[in-house]
Amino acid sequence: MCGIVAAASSNNIVPVLVEGLKRLEYRGYDSAGLAVIGSAGIERVRSVGRVAELESESAGTQAITGIAHTRWATHGIPSERNAHPHVSGSIAVVHNGIIENYETLRRELTAQGYVFTSDTDTESIAHLIQATLKTEPDLFKAVRIACQRLVGAYAIAVIDHTQPGKVIVAREGSPLLLGVSEPGKSTGNYAASDASALLQVTRNMVYLENGDIAELTASKVKITRLDGSPVERAIHVSELSAAAVELGNYQHYMQKEIFEQPEALANTLEIVGGSKSIQPGIFGAEAANLLADVDSILILACGTSSHSGYTARYWLEALAGVPCNVEIASEYRYRTSVANPRQLIVAISQSGETADTLAALRHAKALGQSKTLAICNVPESAIVRECTLRFITRAGPEIGVASTKAFTTQLAALFVLTLVMAKLRGKLSAEQEASYINELRHLPVAVNKVLSLENEIKTWAQRFADKHHALFLGRGMYYPIAMEGALKLKEISYIHAEAYPAGELKHGPLALVDADMPVISIAPNDRLLDKLKSNLKEVQARGGELYVFADQDSEIADSEGVHLLRLPEHYGQLSPILHVIPLQLLSYHVALVKGTDVDKPRNLAKSVTVE
Ligand code: M6R
Repeated sequence: MCGIVAAASSNNIVPVLVEGLKRLEYRGYDSAGLAVIGSAGIERVRSVGRVAELESESAGTQAITGIAHTRWATHGIPSERNAHPHVSGSIAVVHNGIIENYETLRRELTAQGYVFTSDTDTESIAHLIQATLKTEPDLFKAVRIACQRLVGAYAIAVIDHTQPGKVIVAREGSPLLLGVSEPGKSTGNYAASDASALLQVTRNMVYLENGDIAELTASKVKITRLDGSPVERAIHVSELSAAAVELGNYQHYMQKEIFEQPEALANTLEIVGGSKSIQPGIFGAEAANLLADVDSILILACGTSSHSGYTARYWLEALAGVPCNVEIASEYRYRTSVANPRQLIVAISQSGETADTLAALRHAKALGQSKTLAICNVPESAIVRECTLRFITRAGPEIGVASTKAFTTQLAALFVLTLVMAKLRGKLSAEQEASYINELRHLPVAVNKVLSLENEIKTWAQRFADKHHALFLGRGMYYPIAMEGALKLKEISYIHAEAYPAGELKHGPLALVDADMPVISIAPNDRLLDKLKSNLKEVQARGGELYVFADQDSEIADSEGVHLLRLPEHYGQLSPILHVIPLQLLSYHVALVKGTDVDKPRNLAKSVTVE
């Protein structure tokens, strides 16, 4: 989604703005732009395409105050005229989010004589602020008043060449944080959509709340609420290392993140691995009381995060005996549902800023469902802050749009939740508990072994490059893993892929099977293996080409039309975490063969902060 960087400094900020935008590229964008306060007024550069182009176009520009933006089109096609910043008279604005009442504002402002030069909702913010400046000449106050008219979600940054040296930023619903001066290191104050953009200048981050507005100068930061009342926001020293967002020796972030999974899992499970028993306190101080009274679980999430929820449903019902449902957040938020105050709402999100998941969480709370747990990779995110309980996955920054290490660490967190629920409900013996803790402790090693299959998967990938469709099959808790495999393939290689529970094949999708439709199947050595084998025979009989990910001891053989790859070991209940790894590697290598933009697939954004 759109990315914002803003800076007020005593030094030239253009390199900071450009570097910040590069750090935000992973969020997904189609055009970029920046505006600075120059000697003759606002100087603006915009370009469709990569930040690198903006960098060369802005070479030679120097200024001490400026704003910059990567745009992911919502209102109006990707084009230079729609790229941010948008200018109105003396001011320039960048914006992330969606202004829902922009048509009303546009009509009003057009009637007042303002001329719109883009199709964006953002331009109405620029003219609105300019119109407000007529009666309230102080920029901070004018932006504050103008924001009160905005309906929707926004994070904005504004500069005015008649009031040099300051940037005004405000947030409602879209992420925005400040990076404040670090003594002896940076001489300025900054704002951005996420911390990775600002690590180049400071580690001191201030997370703005919805309804906050701030004025940044090179030496000062002032924050108030939109009604003008002053507020203090704490400074958090970011633990993110700049190296964590570097590509290092890898070709793509997705590849790096796939190979970081052993470490990400080890970090996430550190809290468990060191102890002999699993305590509810892992989820927060109030967890023991809150979870003891829970009678069912509702998981809310989108995309890959929902797939971890669907997998966990099998664990929660089978091992903890707790009824569990999973709902796509964008559906739940608009559905009339029956509230259950004893139900635990689990919001799963890598970013913690996904607009639909956040709205679904708020919807549940508004219905009186106050037992809430966030499983999230970003500790300061909105979803974490709005839940009573939390489990922070420690996957480290995930830059590739295709989610990989966030998924496996979410699964690990959900397995820990299953154990806690099982224990609270008297369904976990001390022996079982010790055995599961041991398995969790050794999970990173098991994942590492699966990663060694990469070379064989590369060979398979060649065969997919000319395909237009693929089917993924799984049964039981491997069906959501098949869904995740299909999502990965379509997301980065643009091959249409569908996942089905293998038993469902004969109820329709079998009609699609022929030599041009590769069928990828997950075949772990579990009680459903024989059933699955019958389903695979059905595919073979129709001339379908099968690619089977089995376990070492799965009784299944390769033959004409059946390609077989065995995972090094079967890992019991935790095996879904191993079985997704080859699917991630397969989609990555198919995308490489096809030459797609792996880390920034077309039309997609990393954090989906709009509805
Ligand atoms: O940040 P979140 O986990 O809430 O994001 C949810 C989805 O947008 C995300 O998982 C998306 O499906 C990924 N691009 C999939 O790889």
